[in-house]
Amino acid sequence: MGVNDTALLGGPDANRRLDGMASSPTRVNETALLEVDDLTVRFGGLCAVNGLSFRVKTGEIKGLIGPNGSGKSTVFNSISGVYRPQAGKILFDGKNILKLPPHDRAKKGILRTFQNIRLFSHMTVLDNVLVGLHTRMTGGVLESCFRLRRTAKEEEVREESLRLLDLVHLREYADRPASTLSFGQQRWLELTRALAAKPKLFLLDEIASGMSHSEAEETKELLRSINREQDVTLLVIEHNMGWVFGLCDSVVCMNFGSKLIDGTPEEVKNDRRVIEAYLGEADHAANP
Ligand SMILES: Nc1ncnc2c1ncn2[C@@H]1O[C@H](COP(=O)(O)OP(=O)(O)O)[C@@H](O)[C@H]1O
Ligand SMILES: [Mg+2]
Repeated sequence: MGVNDTALLGGPDANRRLDGMASSPTRVNETALLEVDDLTVRFGGLCAVNGLSFRVKTGEIKGLIGPNGSGKSTVFNSISGVYRPQAGKILFDGKNILKLPPHDRAKKGILRTFQNIRLFSHMTVLDNVLVGLHTRMTGGVLESCFRLRRTAKEEEVREESLRLLDLVHLREYADRPASTLSFGQQRWLELTRALAAKPKLFLLDEIASGMSHSEAEETKELLRSINREQDVTLLVIEHNMGWVFGLCDSVVCMNFGSKLIDGTPEEVKNDRRVIEAYLGEADHAANP
């Protein structure tokens, strides 16, 4: 049985590579933008991440997969600075960032979305993006909220926000409250707000989960254009492996906090350990 045989793990897209794109000689640079080196994170007696190492090349789209509880979100929380690892290094642009607080990591260009949607739901779609832009310009989210209408550069900032909303097909909803958008659109708005802060490395935690099939496919296109047109390196966590394999240049698979394999989608999807890890999860779901 192959990974593609289970409904969870593969759609028709699972076997498709990004013709031309993934092999583009200029898009991906061999130098590592991010290096995770022998990372260990413990919560009491539980070792959530256990000596994990992998690299993300500048310009690539990399997937981080693994069964539930394998440590993926903990890796993101360590990169963005929410958790303090017990051991290891995280290098960004060649420098160890582990001592930096989360906002300094964001200033360096490490931005993320969370597993649960975090928007200012009563503010308009446009104002949600403006907050991202003003955070870049002034520093504080609260300050941004109060100063939205008073900045001298208001028009310029507004234009940039509308351009970003165009990218995600949300410009026509600019004046509506964010809460009126569909689930998928709210995800895209979150993405846009983070984009406004000009990430170099974008960490996306299960951005497509809960989306309809067509929304998930559109999201894939969107991420490709963000990667190509805005020069953003992407590290994506996603449970739907077909989606990941159709999007990513390379994929690292974790199980119980450790790395099982880091390779091309083709290598990873045919790896016996990966198949067994996911089958173990399916067994556990059937007989908890
Ligand atoms: N803040 C925390 N406190 C205690 N345990 C945690 C915490 N965060 C994650 N864990 C545990 O670490 C393990 C890995 O979790 P997580 O990184 O969320 O996995 P994944 O994202 O792959 O589903 C799980 O056993 C989870 O319960
Ligand atoms: Mg998670």
